[in-house]
Amino acid sequence: MNLSEHSMKQTDRYTQGIINIDEISHSIRSFGFDRPVDAAVILGSGLGGFTEQISQAISLSYHQVPNFPVTSVTGHKGELMLGEVAGKSVLAFSGRFHRYEGFSLDQTVLPVRIAQKLGARLLVISNAAGGINRSLEVGDLMIIDDIMRLIGTTTPTGFPPYRCRLKASAAKVRELAADSGLTIRTGTYLFVQGPNYETKAEIRAFRTLGADAVGMSTVPEIAEASRLGIDTAAISLITNMASGITEQKLDHKDVEITAKRRKKDFIRLVSSVIEKW
Ligand code: HPA
Repeated sequence: MNLSEHSMKQTDRYTQGIINIDEISHSIRSFGFDRPVDAAVILGSGLGGFTEQISQAISLSYHQVPNFPVTSVTGHKGELMLGEVAGKSVLAFSGRFHRYEGFSLDQTVLPVRIAQKLGARLLVISNAAGGINRSLEVGDLMIIDDIMRLIGTTTPTGFPPYRCRLKASAAKVRELAADSGLTIRTGTYLFVQGPNYETKAEIRAFRTLGADAVGMSTVPEIAEASRLGIDTAAISLITNMASGITEQKLDHKDVEITAKRRKKDFIRLVSSVIEKW
């Protein structure tokens, strides 16, 4: 089965009501994931290494959970993990579902819905992003304090994204980062569907619109977490400068390279957010 056939099959299962959040949560619990969850983490491209921080961990491949979608992107492992970080019970999704893989919006936000069912009150969402604001540098960690959507990149359920309380959560993350001696940036994340990187003209337009960074995920998850009343901290790792911002050629390998270089600080930041939220 090729990717689009696979995605079609998955989408059909949703639209026909075969996939049910209660059932999926129930089967995840049946694998021993039955402790209450304090916080959930969605790990973006190349950022799966955070799971090394989780102690007393049990893990589960997405393949093992009936009706769970399976991600196909390099740098996304497709694994659920439950364990402890800084004394808190943490559920990690190592691998997310992107719109560009052909997943529906409902599938894209499945980890958020599962996190809520398993009791999470905090969701940390991470991603790899391209820097648009020229004051950003490759390797910067940027806390998202506002989001921007283009026409065609909607969010599920009609929840109005202006009600996402990102400014307040970004301020809190900034304080926690400062306490840990970490320098982080703050900015507006623009959501594109992908999968291709943008043209120079598009990035020029996005910069004029006021976007600081661009990426292919996160916004649907933020909106869904807000709708469900889960506190959300969203963090971008700037893995490359966006098209035309520098002369550097764009390559998906930048994601892996930068994520590896910044792994330690990313882990420190997310751990301290989970510990002190
Ligand atoms: N554009 C869109 N998505 C991205 C980029 C980018 O430059 N870098 C990492 N994810």
